[in-house]
Amino acid sequence: MAILLSTKASAMEAWRDALLELDPSLEIRMFPEAGDPADIEAAVCWTSHDMGELRRYPNLRLIVSMGAGVDHLLRPPGPPPGIPVARLVDHRLTTGMTEWVLLNVLRFHRQDPDYRALQAARVWEELPAPETSSARRIGILGLGELGAASAKALLSLGFPVMGWSRRPKAIEGVEGFHGPEGLEAMLPRTDILVCLLPLTPGTRGVINARSLALLPRGAFLINGARGGHVVQPDLLAALDSGQIAGAALDVFEPEPLPADHPFWGHPKVILTPHAASITIPRSAAPQVVENIRRSREGRSLINLVDFAAGY
Ligand code: GLV
Repeated sequence: MAILLSTKASAMEAWRDALLELDPSLEIRMFPEAGDPADIEAAVCWTSHDMGELRRYPNLRLIVSMGAGVDHLLRPPGPPPGIPVARLVDHRLTTGMTEWVLLNVLRFHRQDPDYRALQAARVWEELPAPETSSARRIGILGLGELGAASAKALLSLGFPVMGWSRRPKAIEGVEGFHGPEGLEAMLPRTDILVCLLPLTPGTRGVINARSLALLPRGAFLINGARGGHVVQPDLLAALDSGQIAGAALDVFEPEPLPADHPFWGHPKVILTPHAASITIPRSAAPQVVENIRRSREGRSLINLVDFAAGY
């Protein structure tokens, strides 16, 4: 039996090597060279792979999605029904996102965009001292693996942290909110809003004209989740009106962000190309090999996607 590997060309060999290092007996087929479709027992693939294509493999027993987010699996046609799907929960992915969130919280907290503008204009000027971190309130949307890790890191730097999740969630030191009323209560107290939610029908467009208007004037937005969480024209309007003082964005809809999109040249937007946290094959491979073993032995899988919840 064989494992079908499908991801962007530049990552294929690193993934193959990482899997073979852990289990040299694996037979890896690199898409589109799948060989006999009946040989394929597991597909390890990412967003570029057409889920409809996976219906070609009659003996497929496991799908591993090579990332944390699963929204691409929820769109039609979706994975073949009845086949378990696991995602990656990987400490390097989590650490990468925590670093990116800290980078941008500190960037806004320490007035870095203003100092960059002064530097560009060759102006030697000291701005008023920033608030202490204890006066800069952070609101995190999503308290899953990523949100919880960022919350802890921000707490350790002295920021007061609030967190919003679908269901009540207790994290030591984090003031928790949930449900629509919880969001309305948290936003007016949030100076820097960090989005690390899964994208589901319930969270699509959560950052819109109404929610942005609930933030204090001059608040900042950091989005490391999915472009679909933000109603982009609403954010542009809020940036242009000064309601939002700056936004650090890693994700967009569509991606790649079209070359003529106003975010590219917007003076208040800090942009990265969906690179906040990048999967490192050697770090993520052990859980993939573990799931292949478990699948062969008929044991329960780890990091299974809950399609009803949408993550
Ligand atoms: C990246 O966006 C991921 O979901 O892992």
